[in-house]
Amino acid sequence: MLLIHIISFMVCAGLLASASTLKLRADDASHTFSLYAYGTDITPGLPLFYGDGKAYIGTSTPSWLSEGVNITLTSTDDDTTFVAAPSSSSTNWTTTPMMYIDTTSDAFQPVGFTSTNSSLSDGQVTSGFGLYGGWAMHLADDGTVEMGFYAVETNVTDVYEVLWNAATATPTTGTAIALRTIAPAVVS
Ligand SMILES: *[C@@H]1O[C@H](CO)[C@@H](O)[C@H](O)[C@H]1NC(C)=O
Ligand SMILES: *[C@@H]1O[C@H](CO)[C@@H](O)[C@H](O)[C@H]1NC(C)=O
Ligand SMILES: *[C@@H]1O[C@H](CO)[C@@H](O)[C@H](O)[C@H]1NC(C)=O
Ligand SMILES: *[C@@H]1O[C@H](CO)[C@@H](O)[C@H](O)[C@H]1NC(C)=O
Repeated sequence: MLLIHIISFMVCAGLLASASTLKLRADDASHTFSLYAYGTDITPGLPLFYGDGKAYIGTSTPSWLSEGVNITLTSTDDDTTFVAAPSSSSTNWTTTPMMYIDTTSDAFQPVGFTSTNSSLSDGQVTSGFGLYGGWAMHLADDGTVEMGFYAVETNVTDVYEVLWNAATATPTTGTAIALRTIAPAVVS
């Protein structure tokens, strides 16, 4: 039932390359990964990066961000947070920002990062994240697997802000994306 819902979402969104790429099971315990975005009308495999406390995808850092950092994420067995760390040792953070989304019903808000749960507003959550066969998903309190990531254009080519759609309606801006641990094939 759940699997069918996920597959039909992916088919609708044009995200499913092949049914064999989908394994509906939680991935192995603690591991560190990067996320890459796939969706209609965007360059396949744009990497997710951190920009001033929010999530972006793209291969360049817009000049209007004061801190743009390529990141890896860590997800552990006994926790459902995605904790970010700089992917290069040229940047060292003293904090460990966690990814959060706004799950308030009908919210369509940026995916962000916070080091403290106490700074979150009602509806914003750092828990419930997981990987299923390499696809980043969020598990709602009621057990529903959600994939509500959207990419919304910025004023820089091929750089998008990442939002979470908590509404049942399709947003009027942006494009649905899947965030996956699979890096894009190198285009020659
Ligand atoms: C992030 O990685 C991309 C390659 O995916 C690279 O082009 C870019 O310069 C990196 N950005 C930073 C801030 O290191
Ligand atoms: C960050 O930490 C690593 C490992 O401790 C170190 O090698 C590197 O020089 C540090 N980078 C900066 C910019 O401080
Ligand atoms: C934040 O809250 C989540 C969910 O309850 C929890 O897994 C995580 O450990 C908390 N992190 C901090 C730094 O308090
Ligand atoms: C591009 O967008 C950013 C973020 O919204 C904004 O701060 C910046 O002023 C914009 N730049 C231009 C040239 O429109």
